[in-house]
Amino acid sequence: MTDKPTPSSSGLDLQPGAAFAETDRQAVYQAIATRRDVRGEFLPDPIDDATLARILTAAHHAPSVGLSQPWDFILVRSPRTRQKIAEIFADANEQAASLFPEQKQAQYKALKLEGIATAPLNVCVTSDPTRGGPVVLGATHMRDTDLFSTVCAIQNFWLAARAEGIGVGWVSILDPARVKVALGIPDHIRLVGYLCVGHVRGFFGRPELEQRGWRTRTPLGELIHDEFWGTPADAVSQALACTELASNG
Ligand SMILES: Cc1cc2nc3c(=O)[nH]c(=O)nc-3n(C[C@H](O)[C@H](O)[C@H](O)COP(=O)(O)O)c2cc1C
Repeated sequence: MTDKPTPSSSGLDLQPGAAFAETDRQAVYQAIATRRDVRGEFLPDPIDDATLARILTAAHHAPSVGLSQPWDFILVRSPRTRQKIAEIFADANEQAASLFPEQKQAQYKALKLEGIATAPLNVCVTSDPTRGGPVVLGATHMRDTDLFSTVCAIQNFWLAARAEGIGVGWVSILDPARVKVALGIPDHIRLVGYLCVGHVRGFFGRPELEQRGWRTRTPLGELIHDEFWGTPADAVSQALACTELASNG
């Protein structure tokens, strides 16, 4: 943006709110549309510290309830620790498989659902519900807002990583209590995301689960309600047909 800052009547720093230039806008949408969950395509090459610093900085710029910034990031590179986490995954994944209807179990077992050992870096993202003090602005009536904030940080991390050509895979098939012990995470801290991070052979053009026939993307029009739950928003739904991002896998 090239506009000069305008002084606000409050004396606070207020920057111009113009839309980004077309190429910058496209870059944002491109990162969103081409971000993928990566499991089997990691390369062993390490991520340089400057790149990692940019991605973590993007995460740290996420919105957070009451500006509480409840997140912490544990960088896990040790093959031994990753092996421990991989074992925790294997146990949870076996249990998970048994929860699906019998006809889905073989398909589930054939899916690769983590890159813990193959990604050169794992990042465990946690949330501290006490970070903002005993009463947090915005968290008084919705108890999980620290988690929501931390998930926003993870999404920033994921998108920034994609822009840097770095893949991220979120692994949630884990017993959080065992992961917390393995990584020395204090009791009151909540485990939110366990991420596998690294350079990749490529990014799938559409979600891998979709390409492998597990599930498809729901038409967005079905999820938008006009004023009241259950009332279709026809005008917006028609506009969606012309939106490139929405028609991208
Ligand atoms: C909270 C959360 C947990 C997830 N856990 C796993 C997981 O344990 N294993 C896995 O393979 N993918 C996991 N994913 C990735 C989703 O499967 C993936 O985002 C979805 O299939 C859409 O694909 P895409 O991210 O490539 O667009 C998780 C995603 C989220 C947001």
